[in-house]
Amino acid sequence: MRKQAGFSVREPGGKTVSEQNYFHVPAEWASRAFVDKAGYEAMYKASVENPEAFWAEQGKRIDWFEPYTKVKNTSFIPGAVSIKWFEDGVTNIAHNCVDRHLEKRGDQVAIIWEGDSPTESRKITYRELASEVNKFANVLRNRDVQKGDRVTIYLPMIPEAAFAMLACARLGAVHSIVFAGFSPDSLAGRISDCGSKVVITADEGLRGGRKVPLKANVDAAIERLPEPVDHVIVVRRTGATVAMEPGRDVWYHEAAEMVTDECPAEPMNAEDPLFILYTSGSTGKPKGVLHTTGGYLVYAAMTHQYVFDYHEGDIYWCTADVGWVTGHSYIVYGPLANGATTLMFEGVPNYPSNARFWEVIDKHQVNIFYTAPTAIRALMQAGEDPVKKTSRASLRLLGSVGEPINPEAWHWYHRVVGEGRCPIVDTWWQTETGGILITPLPGATALKPGSATRPFFGIVPQLVDAEGRVLDGAAEGNLVIADSWPGQMRTVYGDHERFEQTYFSTYPGKYFTGDGCRRDEDGYYWITGRVDDVINVSGHRMGTAEVESALVAHPKVSEAAVVGFPHDIKGQGIYAYVTLMAGENPSEELRKELVAWVRKEIGPIASPDLIQFAPGLPKTRSGKIMRRILRKIAEDQFENLGDTSTLADPGVVEDLVSNRQNKR
Ligand code: PRX
Repeated sequence: MRKQAGFSVREPGGKTVSEQNYFHVPAEWASRAFVDKAGYEAMYKASVENPEAFWAEQGKRIDWFEPYTKVKNTSFIPGAVSIKWFEDGVTNIAHNCVDRHLEKRGDQVAIIWEGDSPTESRKITYRELASEVNKFANVLRNRDVQKGDRVTIYLPMIPEAAFAMLACARLGAVHSIVFAGFSPDSLAGRISDCGSKVVITADEGLRGGRKVPLKANVDAAIERLPEPVDHVIVVRRTGATVAMEPGRDVWYHEAAEMVTDECPAEPMNAEDPLFILYTSGSTGKPKGVLHTTGGYLVYAAMTHQYVFDYHEGDIYWCTADVGWVTGHSYIVYGPLANGATTLMFEGVPNYPSNARFWEVIDKHQVNIFYTAPTAIRALMQAGEDPVKKTSRASLRLLGSVGEPINPEAWHWYHRVVGEGRCPIVDTWWQTETGGILITPLPGATALKPGSATRPFFGIVPQLVDAEGRVLDGAAEGNLVIADSWPGQMRTVYGDHERFEQTYFSTYPGKYFTGDGCRRDEDGYYWITGRVDDVINVSGHRMGTAEVESALVAHPKVSEAAVVGFPHDIKGQGIYAYVTLMAGENPSEELRKELVAWVRKEIGPIASPDLIQFAPGLPKTRSGKIMRRILRKIAEDQFENLGDTSTLADPGVVEDLVSNRQNKR
């Protein structure tokens, strides 16, 4: 690739560095890709000038039992927010991801499963997938799971996770996947919020050679529920002995022996719910983001095809977990809707060695590889040797998702992993958006390391200032999306008011993303990170309020304030300021106890990286904690604390700063 021109980029933490590289689309990409530069410009223009006509055409990429006659019926007006796409169409997602491929590609591999240990892998053809999904659906049906019922899935990255998702979709049940790293408490909250009567889990999970007691966690979660669940379906993964409650718990392999592998696909309206996925916001409990059927699948399939330039026969690997939205849209639904071969990985990047990703790429001849900056940064620290000892000749395209990718990591990914020949698609999106919104297309978009570049078809990003004024040209502001797209979430499960309040009230009439963003003179978008009280730790979203409420639940803690701080590997780390109850004394032991406490309350991903014991927190006279100041202290920006004159007790800040400085 050719290098050109200079520009600046923002490192995590807000530092600005100069970058010299501008990567043009290689000639062979421009000619082989579905979309080249001229194609992008023309299609984008058509998509925003006449969305009805554009999406009427795109909707045809999936099969419909009853065709739609209406395409777009959406309103972002506060008080009347309503999002409907293809609203009178009837379809089924499992039909689209499985059945419709059988005639043409029944013997093609649909899922390559790579186990935690390099000695374990499995290939599942579309025909086998059909049989597995139908069996799973019948097991659920025998337990009275019907259209509209919610089913919680708490599984490791094993093929049964995909079977279970598609089985729910086949029956019209709404799945709610809870990441298998979450604690029993977090799981219980998510089971009860959506009222699941069925939980699907495994005896244990296996990650990096370590076992995770999933069934025991489910048992502990159920104990905390006000009402018990009816059924727990347990997939055997490690063969561990686990407690089974008679009448409630059943081994999946035993139940599956009792059913046939034929099961009709339930006709679903385009706007019937497909899944709920809980995600963190700036306040309160995690929200149940609700996605529906038709628009979601059209959008997931379309973005998967164009962003990854997926061609027949390509081997595609997204390293996410199905517990996150990336796993939903880009391991399961998008790829399978396109008849792709998708790789599902149970393990971690550094087990048994730091070469694992690259060895898996060689083993399965992966062409398209999609991962997160945090993994790249961690592997970068291990040096080039683990990468260089593998071939990676099959690789054609690289992708990044979950957080801003710093240019250093981008260049390493490009130069070392991709040998300088693979474009990188830096894809910006969110749980709420269902699919990728801002991204390069590999045959169309020149790349700037650190920029998610340009909007996908149908997406109208805008930058607004604090008063909601739309900013033109090169500018920096808050990122909003001015009009709907088919993959957009429809509501917060059970709380439409919270949906409107969270996303449509800050800038009335627009969807507010919660991200800050800069647009350069070429119209490229540079996401600068969250502007709300959400932090992004290793690409995982965490509400500071959730960590705070876990901390204050500890008997020795009186008050806590949590902020993010720049972290070399994780992008952001968790910095907790903790005020103890009168009579309690700070100690190293208590620090460890609090970290363990948060892990137990929420899960390991929420573990605070730093805890600072603070006799007092900076508050306004009305008692509001001034997080702006705490953020600056956590970032070591002591000279930059801003106006502290409104503080009830300015002395508190000096204490905090001197404590922080002492730690350096
Ligand atoms: O801050 C943005 C960041 O991740 C947030 C969404 O997190 P989540 O809903 O967990 O979904 C992650 C996977 C889609 C966004 O608000 N983010 C995601 N992708 C990028 C990103 N920030 C910068 N660049 C990205 N490519």
